[in-house]
Amino acid sequence: MTRIQDLAAHVGQAVELKGWNAQKRDSKGLVFMTFRDGTGFCQAVINLEVVGEASFEVAKRLPQESSLAIKGTVICDEKQVGGYEIQVTALTVIAEAEDYPITPKEHGVDFLMDNRHLWLRSRRQWAIMRVRNRIIFAIHEFFQGKGFVQMDAPIFTGNACEGTTNLFETDYYGEPAYLSQSGQLYGEAMAMAQGLIYTFGPTFRAEKSKTRRHLSEFWMIEPEMAFYDLKMDMDLIEQFVQSVVGAVLSSCAEELKVLERDTKFLEKVQLPFIRMKYEDAVSVILGEKEVNGRTSFVMLDEEKAKLVDEQKAVEQDIAEREAKIKSGELKKGEINFNQSKVDKLKGQLTDIAERQQAVEQWISSAKNFKRGDDFGGSDETVLTKMFGQPVMVYNWPQAVKAFYMKEDEEDKGYAKGVDLLAPEGYGEVVGGGERETDIERLKSKIIEHELPMSAFEWYLDLRKFGNVPHSGFGLGLERLVAWICGLQHIRETIPFPRSYGRLLP
Ligand code: 4AD
Ligand code: MG
Repeated sequence: MTRIQDLAAHVGQAVELKGWNAQKRDSKGLVFMTFRDGTGFCQAVINLEVVGEASFEVAKRLPQESSLAIKGTVICDEKQVGGYEIQVTALTVIAEAEDYPITPKEHGVDFLMDNRHLWLRSRRQWAIMRVRNRIIFAIHEFFQGKGFVQMDAPIFTGNACEGTTNLFETDYYGEPAYLSQSGQLYGEAMAMAQGLIYTFGPTFRAEKSKTRRHLSEFWMIEPEMAFYDLKMDMDLIEQFVQSVVGAVLSSCAEELKVLERDTKFLEKVQLPFIRMKYEDAVSVILGEKEVNGRTSFVMLDEEKAKLVDEQKAVEQDIAEREAKIKSGELKKGEINFNQSKVDKLKGQLTDIAERQQAVEQWISSAKNFKRGDDFGGSDETVLTKMFGQPVMVYNWPQAVKAFYMKEDEEDKGYAKGVDLLAPEGYGEVVGGGERETDIERLKSKIIEHELPMSAFEWYLDLRKFGNVPHSGFGLGLERLVAWICGLQHIRETIPFPRSYGRLLP
């Protein structure tokens, strides 16, 4: 048996493939099947004259997603799905499928999410999962290559690492326990044992709203490094992200093509990343500080003007095609062609209108931003749109950051925390920073954040026995996958997403 991923080595040869009928059409003695075997997609051509009447009839009525084995000759053909065609000489059905719910026509997202166990087979989802897999591999390559030790942090925990508002509480032998929001605190303990470590595991946050960037269960990569300060932490973040993006660009060309990903912004992920303090970032958002000679409001007006031009062009295209259809000079095929173009263009108008609303939202949040506040999605978008590249924002007001962040001695009131914001509206993908080492300050922060001191005694021990400066960060895997793949929504980045209101499938 040959796999589609290996077809390049079998051009001109006879092979046997096992897989599924993803889709097909027939015309005069020929069936054209999009055949998939998990490792890829290719076209299978079943010719009545080659396979005979009985097999041809089987192929013609074979339902979508039936499994089958085919034998045939491999032809290289750039125009075909996956770049190869199999000229089938024989086929055997393994299992005929019932009526498959996901057809080539458009389906609503809720329907697709309800059928996630099947939706995973479709070509876009297939591509996303492959990119996710490549990213995971690249993450291990990066850290293992630098001598980091991977550690597994517990999932049941008594510690609220990231605030108490979004904890999932469970019953742990009659005691309350939480599902871990972050492996960081355990990572800090292990960094004192191993020097350089990273955790890579599932984390849980009860996010009681539906957003395009939040899941209730997501995977986080959290390195923790003894003897690292904030600057070294930021150096590592940028090297790490650049290396993962580079790995995907160099080895997932086919997947990115399937996803129609414009890789322009990914290619701009080069070192060094832009770094700016929170206060400077706020000045940029508020339009008080220019970037490359323009303020945020100039940039936002340009965005608005671009959308108006785009809208006019689409409206004109629609008007011209509608006039042609009305003229009575077109053949039936031409009318259908133009009508379906018009329908598509009208969809584009809706999309443009949505983007116009988004720009209005960015403008209003930039106008109303209050110095000292945490950034919302719109603020992150405005800031990164000014650069078109990833931006690291550091030295945040302590009030908006977690209890464990170190206060900057030279910049009182500010925490040595850093967020990495991805361009194209993706926003925060990494949060991290230098950890507080002063045990008294940590204790008062624990009290201030109304956390139970008893649950943190072990953590405070780390400051008593060989206390050293240390730093780390957390990268949300799904947010990274969404950005690299250019997805509108985080729900497609994980095989079986868990989010507010969804537990099945
Ligand atoms: O900024 P956060 O909350 O930082 C921490 O958890 C630290 N303990 C990390 C550390 O320093 N070791 O979360 C880190 C990242 C975010 O930048 C984001 O990418 C992701 O985790 N994230 C989420 N991803 C999906 N759904 C959610 N609900 C997420 N919440 C955070
Ligand atoms: Mg954060």
